[in-house]
Order: sequence, then structure tokens, then C-alpha cells
Amino acid sequence: GPAGAARPHDSASKHVAGEAVYIDDIPEPAGLAHACLGLSGIAHGRLIALDLEPVRAAPGVLCLLTAKDIPGQNDISSTHRHDEPVFATETVLHHGQPLFAVVAETRDQARRAALLARAEYQEAAPLLDVAAARAAGGELVTDPLKLERGDVAAALAASPRRLKGSMAIGGQDHFYLESQIALAIPGEDEDMFVASSTQHPSEVQHMVAQVLGVGSHAVTVEIRRMGGGFGGKETQANLFACVAALAARKLRRPVKLRPDRDDDMVITGKRHDFVCDYEIGFDDDGHILAVDTVYAARCGWNADLSGPVTDRALFHMDNCYFYPAVRARSEPLRTNTVSNTAFRGFGGPQGMVGAERFIEEIAFATGLDPLEVRRRNLYGGSSSSDGPGRNVTPYHQTVEDMIGGEVIAELERRCDYKARQEAVRAFNAASPIIKRGLALTPVKFGISFTATWYNQAGALVHVYTDGTVMLNHGGTEMGQGLHVKVAQVVGQAFGIGLDQIKITATTTGKVPNTSATAASSGSDLNGMAALDACETIKARLTAFAARHWQEEPAAIAFLPGRVQIGAREITFAELVQAAYMARIQLSATGFYATPKIHWDRKAGRGHPFYYFAYGAAAAEVAIDTLTGEYKVERVDILHDCGTSLNPAIDKGQIEGGFIQGMGWLTTEELVWDEKGQLRTHAPSTYKIPVASDRPRIFNVDLLENAPNREPTIHRSKAVGEPPLMLAISVLHALSDAVASVGGHRVCPRLDAPATPERVLTAVERVRAEV
Ligand code: MTE
Ligand code: MOS
Repeated sequence: GPAGAARPHDSASKHVAGEAVYIDDIPEPAGLAHACLGLSGIAHGRLIALDLEPVRAAPGVLCLLTAKDIPGQNDISSTHRHDEPVFATETVLHHGQPLFAVVAETRDQARRAALLARAEYQEAAPLLDVAAARAAGGELVTDPLKLERGDVAAALAASPRRLKGSMAIGGQDHFYLESQIALAIPGEDEDMFVASSTQHPSEVQHMVAQVLGVGSHAVTVEIRRMGGGFGGKETQANLFACVAALAARKLRRPVKLRPDRDDDMVITGKRHDFVCDYEIGFDDDGHILAVDTVYAARCGWNADLSGPVTDRALFHMDNCYFYPAVRARSEPLRTNTVSNTAFRGFGGPQGMVGAERFIEEIAFATGLDPLEVRRRNLYGGSSSSDGPGRNVTPYHQTVEDMIGGEVIAELERRCDYKARQEAVRAFNAASPIIKRGLALTPVKFGISFTATWYNQAGALVHVYTDGTVMLNHGGTEMGQGLHVKVAQVVGQAFGIGLDQIKITATTTGKVPNTSATAASSGSDLNGMAALDACETIKARLTAFAARHWQEEPAAIAFLPGRVQIGAREITFAELVQAAYMARIQLSATGFYATPKIHWDRKAGRGHPFYYFAYGAAAAEVAIDTLTGEYKVERVDILHDCGTSLNPAIDKGQIEGGFIQGMGWLTTEELVWDEKGQLRTHAPSTYKIPVASDRPRIFNVDLLENAPNREPTIHRSKAVGEPPLMLAISVLHALSDAVASVGGHRVCPRLDAPATPERVLTAVERVRAEV
């Protein structure tokens, strides 16, 4: 299974047969107890009294945990702002905030007992959304970012045309099929083992050590696989792991904590919803001259990842377009809601939705086709002595690998865009109630963590004397196929098949100080680290073989299924066996740090992204103008994975990412009531896409012959997040269908998610305005 081959996910058959072991499937250790969190019943106020006696007296209850039972710090803030206690003490900051935990013999007993607590509050008015937070003075959870290039005020003033607008962009629940879960097993002394469904084992290790008041060396965190993470287990797993560990420490028994779906949704942070206010200057030919925007986000009760998420929104407020003068500001607002967090794209999708709205506004204002406006504003050209070219981003990074224009042109051709646009027009002219819409939108997504130090990875490779290999690295498997890709890299390096390589659980005990598996960088980073370990072992084996068989090192090669040593060919296992007898070390660690990147946040300047991943999608929809209901009829995608490490896995990531993005922009709507209680906390009220929502025709192609220009692992590109943003095409196809009722004279200004209700409202508004 060399790198580049289409191979099924290593666990594919186990996934469908129900044999893949998730944390709740691990055989339960003797003496296992179960924890449940007790939650706040108000969104904001003072906790005056908390009577836990009825909880303590309930059947099966073993112990209670409150802030007083924490031997270390009551703090799991990942930002060092100390704004995220495990348990609330005096102040309650959101509905569903954990106040205590109860541990019982069974999970059912713990859940029943948790509901018996009697809390007394002095309620305060909760600030629930961007508007309320702004009206109350706009307290921020973290430092805002400003990106600026050129003189925006002057450029706006000089623009022949200007317009202002505002767009609401909704949030999203991760809806991983496996909810949050942790299993903590106490060991000797202060040792603690935690199986945690986390994208970031090293951070869980650090947090568990911090709440227990022990060194990191006493804590081991392990994860074989998650049943989905999507960013929702980058920091949000910390709480569950820490509570399980606190309970295990107190009881000296193993403890499992698995919230039910409703509690999971009520407690954990989600994708940030944004309000994007914009003013744009342009000319009659649709050229953008100036963009001035504020991206305000509902961040929730603490900072968590809101800083980097709102930063990434600004990093993508250009998408593929050059803005001659630009100013973009973030406004990360504190609210009394769950603490919003990482979600596939990490703010980038919200930034990009804004960019595509600017394009749409200009198209309607000028009467040009939106795709033509897109094309006229693409990055292009290079810097010259007259100054920077049309290839400099708002954060002053030069776009060196722009292929967005080629991707658009190629997709346009493949999906027969022009002919279909005419067919849609003809259909609409003859159809009074059902209206069709078509849109083609591009994606340019920056790859690297903007926290530069995160761009490092480690690996550990053992070769055993029978020639089989144990592979371990710092990345986590959440369904995305990272492990099989890294195994392919190792297989290619040694010339052995995937059946010779054991993929092992990610554990802080084997590879330390790892970064979150996030920012789509899992295979870029861990693939390189694993290759580095393989190269070390291969160098030792090559030197040994040269000595042993009296050949030049250059005459030794690791080929598929065999090792060439001069004229001799032996198996990898035979070479390894001989090397072992000669006392050659057959194990190595590997390491990688991404080159080239730097970022000065204060100045808003740098080169935060190693490279960009590109793609484009064309979506065709049909709406019912009497009800607002719609169908996605056809989607065509062309996406850039560089030289793919595994085209089968990458295609799955593109399809899955697109569908998840489509859910975000169409049916998935989060509703908090005026008390700050989340009303959409189960699949009965929160609608993720199901099989019948998939596009009727769904053509997904990988861009061919497009190696990464940077020397990434086998010239591949990251794929985890970028395809989610291809779904912006669906939002714009819906908008195109709505606009048809007004003869395309009025911009529908469709907010996201474009639920059937919103589509219907937009149809009526457009009709009224023409
Ligand atoms: N694919 C599956 N099946 N499940 C997931 O949870 N998470 C996404 C993406 N694809 C996810 C997924 C997110 S948010 C990221 S950042 C990347 O996978 C992380 O993995 P990678 O860096 O190995 O691409
Ligand atoms: Mo992905 S949001 O970076 O975990």
C-alpha cells in the first residue's frame, strides 16, 4: 500500500461491522463507577446555595465532586486566561454550566441523582447574542485582530460605487456520532490513565495533571479512535477527562463519564455564529476597490479557541479575491452561552461566506453574472518595481500558488456551467412555483496552525525482528483516515505492505508534547515525522548492509516487497533479522517542524500559511416558492489535494466535508430561548443532513497533475477542512433561485442557515421589493 494508492480506511470493515473499539466498547474494568454532571438551570447569575443532600442520599451514589474536591486547580482554560473552571463556584455564566458531579455504581443511578440537586440563584440578565453583547458594551473574551492594507477610507471615498450591508452567519453543533467520553483508571501513587475521546491528548494530559495537582509524567492519555471530532474534541474533551480523573482519584476506582446527547449539546461549545458588517467600494465593471468589515462573533462564556477562530475568519475574508484596500476587524464577544470552539474550518468558513456575499452584492448592483465578478477579482499577477501585485492578502502574505482561476475554469467546463445556466433560466421562465438556481463558488484555504509553535509533530517507529512494524505518531484518528495515510508513508519507505504495519493508539506515553490533530495538518505533520523516523532506521540498515555484504551504500535500495543489495535481493524481514544479530538499533523517533511560516499578530503581517488548498463547486437547487422547501439537484466538485496520499480517503473527506458544510448553511439551526436555554439539543429539533438530503447527482473529482509546490509529504495537500467551504455554492444557488422571482434585480441577502423558513421569507421580500 504505497503512498498515493487508493486504499480503504484501515478500520472501514470494522466501522460497518460494529467491531471498531470506541471508548465505550473497551471491556469495563472491575469496580467501574459512573459519573454524571450536575448542570446550572440559569444562564447568568450568582449561585447562592447548592443543596446536594438529596443527591448524596440517592440510591447507588458513591461520592460527589464540587470545586472544593479539586486537589489541584479548578481551571481547564486552554488559553491561560483562567476563565474556565471545571465547576462553577459563585458565578454561573451559561445555562448548562457544570456545578458538580455525582458518581454512582451505575450510569443510570448517577443520571437520576444529578437531577435531585437544589440550586438557589440570584439571576442576572443574560447576554445571549451578538446584538445583546454589543448593546451591553461589547465585552470581549480575547484580544481582537485587525488586518489592514492600503488606505481604506480614501479608497472607499474614491470608489464610483459603494454599498453597505450586514449578514448573519449561524453556528453549528458538531454532532459527532460518538459523544464526549472519558474513562479514568487510577494507578499506583498518583498515576492516572485516561482513555479520552480527544483530538488533543497532550492537552488533556496537561489539564488532568493541573486539576489533580500532579506532574504531567503521572498522567497518560490514550485514544485509539474517535467517532468523529470535527473540532469539537480539540478542547471540549478536557472537562470530561478531568472530571473522570478527579472522581477516579477520590474513589480510587475506575470512573467513566459519558454524557447523553442532550447534555453533550447543552454543555459543549459549537461553531461560532457571526454577524458580518461590511462596506464595499467597487466600479461599474465589478472590480472591488475597497473592503471594510467587522466580523463579530458570539464566543460564549470564556475565551477557549475564540481568539484563533476569529483570527482565521479574518484570514479568509478574502477567499480567492484581491482587495486593493482592505480593513478587517474581529469582535470576539463574551456572551452567556456555551463557549464556542473549533469546528472544521475554524472560523475560515464564516470569513469566506462574507467574501462571497460581497461578490454577490456587487453582481446584483452591476447586473453582472456573479461568476464573472468572481473571475474579475481573483488573485493574480506578481509584484514588480511599481509595487505589490494583485497577489497580496490582507495579512500581507503573497499568494504564491494561486490556481483558483484554473480550478474554476476547469470545473466550469466539466459541469457544463454555461449551458446549464441557460437551461435553468428557461426552466424558471416556464415554471411559476418551482424555481431553480445555479452557483459556482471557489475555495482557497490556508494550511498551517496560526499558532506557529503548533506546527510540529513526533513519531515513534519500532521494527521487530520478523520485519513487522509498530507505528505510533502524535496525530489522532477521528474517522478522517490519518492513520492509514501515515501507514502508507511508512510502507512506502520500507517497501512493505500495510499488513506488515500495526497502527497503534495515540498515547502521550509514546510520543510526547503533541499538537492537536486539527487545522487539517495531521498528515502533513505526522506523515513527515513518521518518514523522518523511517529514514533514520533505513540509514542504519543501509550502513549495516553495505558493511555486511561489501556493497556501496548507493547499491542498496528498499523496493516494493524486497531490498536490493548490489545484485542480491532479500526480504525486508531477512535484512532486519541480520541487522538485529549485528546489534543494530531497529527503533527510532522522528520529528518535523513546518518551515517558512511566521506571523506577527500585533502588526497583522506575516506568512502564517505554508501553502493554500484550492477547490471549486457548482451547485444546482430547486426551491418551492410557496413553502420555501428545497432540494439540491446536482453538485460538481473539483478539489485540489496536491498529489493525493490516498485518493479514496480524500474523496471521502471531500464528500463528507461538503455535506457537513451544506448542513451548516441549510438545515442546521441552533436556537436559544430568552432564558438562554438551548432548545435544539437533540436530533428531534436539530436537523443534520441525512442520506436523502445528498445531492441527486454528486460528481467529485480530484484535481489531476497538481503536486504541491512546497515539499510537503509526497507533495500532497491537506484535505480535512477545505472541502467544507465548497458548500457555500449551495447557499448561493439557493440565493440565485430566490432572486429569480424578482428577475435577478434584487439581492436576496440570504442569511445562513438558509432554512426553508428563511428561503420563503426571502422570496416574499424579493417579490415585495421589485
Ligand atoms: N473526518 C471525519 N470522518 N471525522 C472528523 O471528525 N474532522 C475534520 C476533518 N475530517 C473529521 C474529519 C477536522 S475539523 C479536521 S481539522 C481534520 O479532519 C483533522 O484531521 P487531519 O488533520 O488528519 O486532516
Ligand atoms: Mo479541526 S476544526 O481544526 O479540529
